[in-house]
This record gives sequence, C-alpha cells and structure tokens, in this order.
Amino acid sequence: MALKRSKITGVGKYLPDYVMTNEELEKHVDTNDEWIRSRTGIAERRILKDPDKATSFMATNAAEDALKDADIDAEEIDLIIVATVTPDYLFPATAALVQKRIGAKKAFGFDLSAACSGFLFALSTAGSMIESGRIKKALVIGADKMSSIMDFTDRTTCILFGDGAGAVVLEETDEDEGIVDFVQYTDGDENCTLYQPAGGSLNPATEETVKNKMHYIRQDGRTVFKKATEGMADVSLEIMKKNNLSPDDVAWLVPHQANLRIINATARRMGLSEDKVMININKYGNTTAATIPLCLYDWKDKLNKGDKIILSAFGGGLTWGAIYLKWSK
Ligand code: ACO
Repeated sequence: MALKRSKITGVGKYLPDYVMTNEELEKHVDTNDEWIRSRTGIAERRILKDPDKATSFMATNAAEDALKDADIDAEEIDLIIVATVTPDYLFPATAALVQKRIGAKKAFGFDLSAACSGFLFALSTAGSMIESGRIKKALVIGADKMSSIMDFTDRTTCILFGDGAGAVVLEETDEDEGIVDFVQYTDGDENCTLYQPAGGSLNPATEETVKNKMHYIRQDGRTVFKKATEGMADVSLEIMKKNNLSPDDVAWLVPHQANLRIINATARRMGLSEDKVMININKYGNTTAATIPLCLYDWKDKLNKGDKIILSAFGGGLTWGAIYLKWSK
C-alpha cells in the first residue's frame, strides 16, 4: 500500500492589535516587570479589547490567512477543528461559526478541548483522518481569548496569558514528509490543579459563582510548573528515542509557550542548543491552544523542506504530547 501522510501546506495567524505590557499590569496588581520577565520570560501580550469579538473572530482570521498561504479555496476543506478552552459559546462549536464565515461549504467541524495541548491533539486527529483516506484537506486552528477568563486582580494568573489564534492547512501527501509520529497523554486532574470552576454543568452560572470568581482560571502554579517541566521534557525525549532522532537530527523544537523556564528545561533534556528552539513567549505570553501555530507562523521563512521538527506541549486536563513532523513546504 502506498504511504499516506498529512502535511502542512499553509500557516496563518491572528493577533489583536492591543499590546498589554508588564508595566500596565503593575497598575492592576502587586507585581513588576522584573518579576514577570525573570519568572516567565513574558514582556507583553496581546488582548482582544473589542467586547463584540471573541475566539471565533480570531480563528476565522487565522483560517483565512492559512488558506491564502496554502493557496486553496475554503470550499476544498473537508474538516475544521478548533482547539480552544474559550469557545464563543459552550455550543454551537466555534468550528461551526468558522465554517460558515469562511464559506467551507462541504466541511464538517468540531471543537477540541485539551487546553494548552489542544493544537497538538487537533493536529494528530486531523492528520490521522487524512492518513485513513477518509478526508483530504483539513483546517486545524488553535484559538483562545484567554482574557475572557482571566482575573485581572489575581497576580498569580493574570500575568501569564494572552489572546491569539494560529491555523494550519493540512493536506494529504504520499511522500515521506509531514506528520511522521505522535505521542500523547491524558491524566485526569481530579485535584483541579488547573481549571475553570464554573460555567459547565457542575457549576452553572449563578450569582454565587460570579461573586466567588468561579468563571476565571484557577491554578496551583507550582504544581503545574513541576508537572509541565517533567511532562514536556519526557514526552519530547520519548518521541526522539522512538524515531531514532539524535539532537543533531532535530532542526527545530516548537514548544508550547507557557514559561521560558519550562521551554529551556525541555530543550536541555533533548540536548538541543538555544538556536533550535522557537520562542515568542516574550511577545505574546501563553495563548493556550495558539502558541504552537503562532511559532510556526513566526518562523515559517526559516523552515526548509525536510527539516525534522518536534512540536511539544503540556496543559490542563492534564494533557501532554509531542508530534514529529518533516517540514514539507
Ligand atoms: N508578581 C510578583 N510576585 C508574585 C507574582 C507576581 N505576578 N505571582 C506570584 N508571586 C509571588 C508569590 O506570592 C510567592 O511569594 P511568597 O514566596 O512570598 O509566597 C513568590 O512570588 C513565588 O511564587 P511561586 O508560585 O513559587 O513562583 P514561581 O517561580 O513558581 O512562578 C508561575 C509562578 C510563573 C505561575 C510558575 O509557577 C508557572 O509558570 N507555572 C506554570 C503555570 C502555567 O504556565 N500555567 C498555564 C497553563 S499550563 C501550561 O501552559 C503549561
């Protein structure tokens, strides 16, 4: 049987214009630029200020940008997956709103909730459907309006996140390129180390849930930091070993951008030098499902056909994983 793989043929992004600096956050909470930079690597992040615009708006813009880059029409798309934890509505899916707006008439779509690992899980899902031969072209979008669930009076979380969207077009190929392998994990977080307590069916919105700030992100930062550092480093090394990749073989690490210290620890464990690691957390903060496609976008002019790339993420769920792909554009 002929080899069937899926390859990225277009990359797009959307970032809101408004830049929120660390200095601006100093006005809201007891923090400072030096603390934020040294503990996280973040200098500024983008915030979607317009109250009438949400995740689907950013996802649609990123999708259109990716379609243009791939030079294909929306009507050719079979599948749309939007990875997000900040959908416009609990239902309908953000993917349905995107489908309508871009005019992807024959596509089906759904949202995928795997927090910061969402884009990876969505990419491997769409890739597997293409490899099965059932579909040919997919749009995979990571988009989050994190400012909609951030408590700007909580200094332990509000400094970390930003808004943004990234998208890729995935198409079938019979060459030895594109997604080669993935390793992914979930470990149900019964202790709720990272979650949004209300808004779901357990704690629907009430006066009480609003008063108790239960619609905002809550996390045990130290625990998440420790687990993320171990998880991302372990899974990145695992996929290298599984595919007999030495540090010299790997052209790029595309890590989820949660904390510069987590990224550096992962790169060290993989034996990679700094110049092989995509880092833009300084400009955008943690945009949750959007960090990895935003890196691919920012680095796309530096990528060469055949480059061996490891994508790696850890997030709420808990979820984590890595994808090995050969760049194909
Ligand atoms: N400004 C100033 N001081 C602060 C701030 C702040 N914004 N936030 C916390 N502090 C204080 C704490 O109160 C604490 O003070 P204390 O020692 O008097 O108690 C001190 O700084 C150290 O706090 P720690 O929580 O130990 O700081 P740490 O070095 O762990 O950094 C951080 C905190 C940045 C949240 C880190 O734990 C982290 O990045 N965790 C991962 C969280 C994450 O990225 N989650 C996102 C989703 S999951 C993912 O994407 C991987």
